Parts: sequence; structure tokens; C-alpha cells
Amino acid sequence: DAPWTVPALAQAKRDGRKLVMLTCYDAGFARTVDAAGIDLVLVGDSLGMVVQGHDSTLPVTVADTAYHTRCVARGLSRALLVADLPFQADASTDRALAASTELLQAGAAMVKLEGAAPHKLDVIRHLAQREIPVCAHLGLTPQSVLRLGGYKVQGREAEAARRLQEDARAVAEAGADLLVLECVPTPLAESITRESPIPTIGIGAGPHCDGQVLVLHDMLGLRSGHRRPRFVKDFLEEGGSVQGAMEAYADAVRSGTFPDAAHSYA
Ligand code: KIV
Ligand code: NA
Repeated sequence: DAPWTVPALAQAKRDGRKLVMLTCYDAGFARTVDAAGIDLVLVGDSLGMVVQGHDSTLPVTVADTAYHTRCVARGLSRALLVADLPFQADASTDRALAASTELLQAGAAMVKLEGAAPHKLDVIRHLAQREIPVCAHLGLTPQSVLRLGGYKVQGREAEAARRLQEDARAVAEAGADLLVLECVPTPLAESITRESPIPTIGIGAGPHCDGQVLVLHDMLGLRSGHRRPRFVKDFLEEGGSVQGAMEAYADAVRSGTFPDAAHSYA
């Protein structure tokens, strides 16, 4: 199969083909993820928790993310590589452009950033105008953990749901190519996905998103030291091997059997 491109993601949404994404932090797993036919790979700042052992993503630096992006890029031949802009690397347009340039030069094809505050929309516009593909991330945004007071489902109340729907519109208008929705009630994620011109990728956001993402360590059942949320499923048991687990996850997403109600928020 041909390597994934950014325009092919939009085409997949138009065709109703589900996008399958996993996080990854090194070349060995990247080779396996690629061989399993996973479409998108995320060097998430979750690396602060599952690789570095911190209890949040805040300590991760651009240098850390660039290092893991270089490692993962060497292992991929087909999946599209997305890298997270770490905490405050998107605090200004200048910082975001410098960090994104470093991540694209490390091998990423797209950068991801959290939130839709006015300065974040400026950053999305700034990057998109400079030919840097952007993935937005709304709902539970782990870089906001100190102000949120914990990792909780977002958009439960009507006013919060309305704001989330508006934010989804705003990031697409600003030029984002993809939108991650984390810990959002199923009906809200469904409504955002229906309206969104760009593909949505859910994690704890129900089965109606255009694609799904999980943290690699979680779907392999590793005790990575962080919270084990409701939406996590261990695919190693049914998959029988690491590559088998990835293939079982991809099959479940493409056939619509994951996530089910037990792995979603009503
Ligand atoms: O850092 C990460 O792994 C993420 C995913 C959970 C979407 O942002
Ligand atoms: Na992240």
C-alpha cells in the first residue's frame, strides 16, 4: 500500500473509511505498527508518562519529542507520523513555528496541539499558512491538568458541549487538518464528527468518530504507571502477539466493534 499523505486523510473521511492511530515512541515498535497496517502514528507527549515515568505530560520538552520522532521515523514506511507540540511549545506563534520546524525536520508530517484559545487558533493559522499540517486536540487536554484538577470527561453540561462544538468549528476554520477528541460523551463526539469538515480521531469519544487512537502501552496492557481510563482496552490477549494486538485493534476500529459502550462515555 502507498504511504499515507495528508490529503488522503480527508479522502478517507469522504469515503467513510475509519482511520486507525496508535502512539509510538521508538523504532522497534514503529516497524511493528507499520507492519500491522496502522494508518497514523503519534509521538504523543504521553511519552512523559509512559516512557519517562512522570505523572503528567508537562515535563516533556521539544528536544524529547524530537528525539522520539527521529527514532519512530526510522521505523516507518507507510504510516503518517504526527508529533505533539509539548507544553508551552505552542504558547506563541514564533515558538510554535520553531518547534514545528524541528519536529518536521525530525520526520513528522504533522504536529498536534491542544486547545482552541485565541492564541492557539493564531498558532494553527500561522502554521497552516507556512505549509505545516496541524492536528488539533479538544475535549480533555492533558496539558491543562493543573487547571482542570484531574483527568475528567469534558463537555457533559450543555454549555460546555456548545463551547466544544464551537471550538471544533474554529480549529477547522483556522486550518487544522485533523482533530483529536479526548474523553467526550459519545453523542457530542458524533455530532461534532458529523459537522466537521476534517476527520475526527477519538479516544474515549465513542464509536462515531472518523478514526480512533490509543496509547500503545495501554492497548498492550502494560502498567505504565498512569491512570487506566474506561476507554482503554488490552488487545494483547486476543491478538496473541504485539503485532497481533495491533492488528486486532485495527480490525476492531475498521469494523466498528471498538470502542463499544463499555469503552465510551454515554
Ligand atoms: O500524548 C498522547 O498520547 C495523546 C493521545 C492520547 C491523543 O495526545
Ligand atoms: Na498528547
